[in-house]
Amino acid sequence: MSIEKKWFGTTAGGTDVYSYTIGNKNGMRAVVLTYGGALQALYVKDAYGKTRDVLVGFDDLEGFEQRSNYQGVLVGRYCNRIADGSFTVGGRTYDVTRNEKGVTCLHGGGEFSRAVWQASVIAENAVALRYTSPDGAEGFPGEMETSVTYTLTDDNELILDYKARCTADGYINLTNHAYFNLGGFDSGDILNTELRIRASHYLPTDARSIPTGEVRSVKGTPFDFREVKPIGRDIGEEDEQLLMCRGYDHNYCLDAHRDGPAAEAYCPATGIRMQLFTDLPGMQLYTGNFLQGSIGKKGLPMFRHAGFCLETQYYPDTPHRPEFPSCLFKAGEVYTSRTSFKFV
Ligand code: BGC
Repeated sequence: MSIEKKWFGTTAGGTDVYSYTIGNKNGMRAVVLTYGGALQALYVKDAYGKTRDVLVGFDDLEGFEQRSNYQGVLVGRYCNRIADGSFTVGGRTYDVTRNEKGVTCLHGGGEFSRAVWQASVIAENAVALRYTSPDGAEGFPGEMETSVTYTLTDDNELILDYKARCTADGYINLTNHAYFNLGGFDSGDILNTELRIRASHYLPTDARSIPTGEVRSVKGTPFDFREVKPIGRDIGEEDEQLLMCRGYDHNYCLDAHRDGPAAEAYCPATGIRMQLFTDLPGMQLYTGNFLQGSIGKKGLPMFRHAGFCLETQYYPDTPHRPEFPSCLFKAGEVYTSRTSFKFV
């Protein structure tokens, strides 16, 4: 086990950014940045002994600052979407940043993903990142302290432990936005990657990507990943939800289970298999439908379906959906959650 700290770059605003590389005894390495609390790279050995970086993203800070679609970063205070950028808590209405088409609040306005977090090495295999969001940031009530600890075990499991507390009542929904490509970031699209998701239902959305309120069965639809299938098998079907989003970009309502991963992905070309564990009720499957146009690692252009995201979360737009599992936390109440990615 080892952790190496390196200077990564200086932001446009003049703040130095560092990377922390956590390595385990099997040669797996996770690179975490203070900028956005990002998981910048994840080096995993494939079935043939070759080490591959399985994250699509950037190797320069400018990429994170200028060309980001949230590659690898932490997202808060409220990941995914809040309809109309407005919600009411305790009889008071809050207007938050409407950074999507001027109407929707997407990924909490981006604040947590652009922030430079304070890092500390808390064990030989763990780095804790901390960020304090000021009262009123992006329009959200209260000062919120957040910490996310990245731990890499010798069992090849990367664990993300989230903890947050706010001085006002409010909604808390945190995630990490890594784009995986288990063939390696430079290997082409992820359509052949096999995926299983333990979810019998998902949330259809309207044209603004806001859940309609319907909790729809996946049965008989292209959204059924209960049996393993390649991501690309049904992605081109004439399904109104897929056509609207140019692919998968939907919250899965994870089935309650205790006996294994909530999702599992496998790349036949490299033999890399990843299991996802979480204590959260939802997971957004996003197949990088809008990735084209930006330049990523090694100067290579990104393209549609270059990576997939498994964003563990409370369901989107819960402030307007009291019937969804609640992520309303009282002032001073502690939010905790754990998500991990295990390579087996
Ligand atoms: C959203 C997508 C969005 C992407 C990048 C995902 O979480 O669901 O609609 O394009 O993030 O912002």
